[in-house]
Amino acid sequence: MPRILALETSCDETAAAVVADGRVILSNVIASQAASHAQYGGVFPEVASRMHIEVIYAVVQAALNEAHVGLGDIDAIAATRGPGLPGSLVVGLNVAKGLALGRGLPLLGINHLEGHVYSLWLVEGAPEVQFPVVVLIVSGGHTELILMHDHGRYERLGGTLDDAAGEAFDKVARLLGLGYPGGPEIERAARDGHPAAYKFARPWLDGTWDFSFSGLKTAVLYEVKKQPYGRPLLASDVQLDPMEVRNLAASFQAAVVEVLVGKTVAAAKAYNATEIFVAGGVSANTALREAFARLAPVPVRVPPLSLCTDNAAMIAAAANFRYLAGQRDALDIDALPNWRLA
Ligand code: KG4
Ligand code: ZN
Repeated sequence: MPRILALETSCDETAAAVVADGRVILSNVIASQAASHAQYGGVFPEVASRMHIEVIYAVVQAALNEAHVGLGDIDAIAATRGPGLPGSLVVGLNVAKGLALGRGLPLLGINHLEGHVYSLWLVEGAPEVQFPVVVLIVSGGHTELILMHDHGRYERLGGTLDDAAGEAFDKVARLLGLGYPGGPEIERAARDGHPAAYKFARPWLDGTWDFSFSGLKTAVLYEVKKQPYGRPLLASDVQLDPMEVRNLAASFQAAVVEVLVGKTVAAAKAYNATEIFVAGGVSANTALREAFARLAPVPVRVPPLSLCTDNAAMIAAAANFRYLAGQRDALDIDALPNWRLA
């Protein structure tokens, strides 16, 4: 029953976790920088990197304390190797290298997207996985549709050609004068809006498994500009009618959800998948979850809300499979900011 200490610093969360057996979360500590980045309406790489350095040791110590273990009880150290912001990735990876070297422990560099996939293995009492499964990874940085043939064996079916789904939520939230991160804000506003109030075209990109969300964002921008007081370029100046903000949020969300769910369900059918896995920050979205539950022909797994957005427990869960498969990385591995899963 290996115990893995994992570090995750690919974007703006400084996270560390201890996971036993790839399933049992002994601790899962996250220091979020969201509040610091909210003032910019997004992540500032320089700021993110500096903040990781400031808090990483405290976060690692907290993860060990909460798990009631010391480094002597740990079997391997894992860290996110990529994809992500270069200046952020190197912080977690280098601290992990130092710990591995200092304690003579194996080091495993983990793909952040594989981490999101393995957040599904942290669901308590989850049934054994029968491959192949279709995986939709939807986060702030990624929208990937993947056919997973086995542990660690991925075939990329498609992905976004422009904005990631979460990025579209964040940008549209900004246009509507809502806060950061935009996903939860849009979801909240959409609850009291009409999803059919605005008829946004669905970017189906027929004949491919790809996505495109930047046109949708532009369509929202045009609608905002038509509003009597729509001055979208300065988020703080937007004075939209609150009901129209809700309608725009609901209509935008409905378009994104329809395309994400429609294409993922079609892929599951086309490839005879036994299940659909949805992971990443946007998988927290209730409308998305409900649409999958309604339309999927096979069971759908989504992570618990606490494991949708970036965390280190998912990195430890992915590392567990690789540890058992014998992966051991050299202490001089580099961060891979553009590392693809497949
Ligand atoms: O996975 P994540 O924490 O970071 C990346 O790896 O990118 O995802 C963050 C993204 C943000 O864009 C955020 O707006 C979005 O996930 N998000 C949501 C919701 N919660 C977070 N999008 C839609 N609905 C939500 N409830
Ligand atoms: Zn992520």
